Amino acid sequence: MATIIDGKAIAARVRGEVAAEAAALREKGITPGLAVILVGDDPASRVYVNNKKKACAEAGIYSEEIALPADTTQDELLALIASLNSRSDINGILCQLPLPSHIDDKAVISAISPLKDVDAFHAANVGHIMIGDYTFLPCTPAGVMELLHSAGITAAGKSCVVIGRSNIVGKPMAMLLLHENGTVTVCHSKTANLKQICQGADILVAAVGKAKFVTADMVKPGAAVIDVGMNRDENGKLCGDVDFAGVEPVAGWITPVPGGVGPMTIAMLLKNTILAAKHQNALLIK
Ligand code: GUN
Repeated sequence: MATIIDGKAIAARVRGEVAAEAAALREKGITPGLAVILVGDDPASRVYVNNKKKACAEAGIYSEEIALPADTTQDELLALIASLNSRSDINGILCQLPLPSHIDDKAVISAISPLKDVDAFHAANVGHIMIGDYTFLPCTPAGVMELLHSAGITAAGKSCVVIGRSNIVGKPMAMLLLHENGTVTVCHSKTANLKQICQGADILVAAVGKAKFVTADMVKPGAAVIDVGMNRDENGKLCGDVDFAGVEPVAGWITPVPGGVGPMTIAMLLKNTILAAKHQNALLIK
């Protein structure tokens, strides 16, 4: 029987810490501010944006939603980002992905000032992460690390397997585990012997985007299994990339979906917004 890592409770703790920091900044006359841009009407993105706004309000962070129609041009979006880059009341800028297909997300990400890039998606911030000299950490991988630390799990010397190689999760996840001296393998759709590789993992992070992809026979007894997935099963029920019912009796630790990694992503976004406000107001030296 695995210990269930309660992301909701850990995120609530982090959000409490963020709220205290936001209050301390407001005492100094600084209200941290986050701009959230949503282009189009993707229902999942709408839910994520609403959750982010709600979390900001609860933490005492000003948030401004800019909802744009699906036919917004790339130039219009870039002009909006330029105006947000120059506003002193906006410390963080987040453009919810995916964007409509006529907009090049790389152009959009690179238009956001790296100082306000609370997603840590800009190439400059990705580079900082690569060399281990960063301000912002990408929210989901940082949330996973916080879950591991809160459960008393360290990566040093362990075999860590990340399934998925996206720029948002898989690649930065591998880097953060490596920074903590884990021995990291990144698996993907072309990986041969995926099952065998996963069977050797002390820490297994699933970020595949396929419902119940990780099954009990892929998991080493006692391993920490972290589920980044957010899918619907055959009955339309929310589920992760891990077959929770099958894996839970084998693993040492496991995160549920919902209530695992998801709440951490938002908590880390709030943390990055506070960091951005501090840096932009020269309250931190880095
Ligand atoms: N879409 C899915 N996850 C994310 C995220 O972490 N940030 C942004 N901006 N868009 C996303």
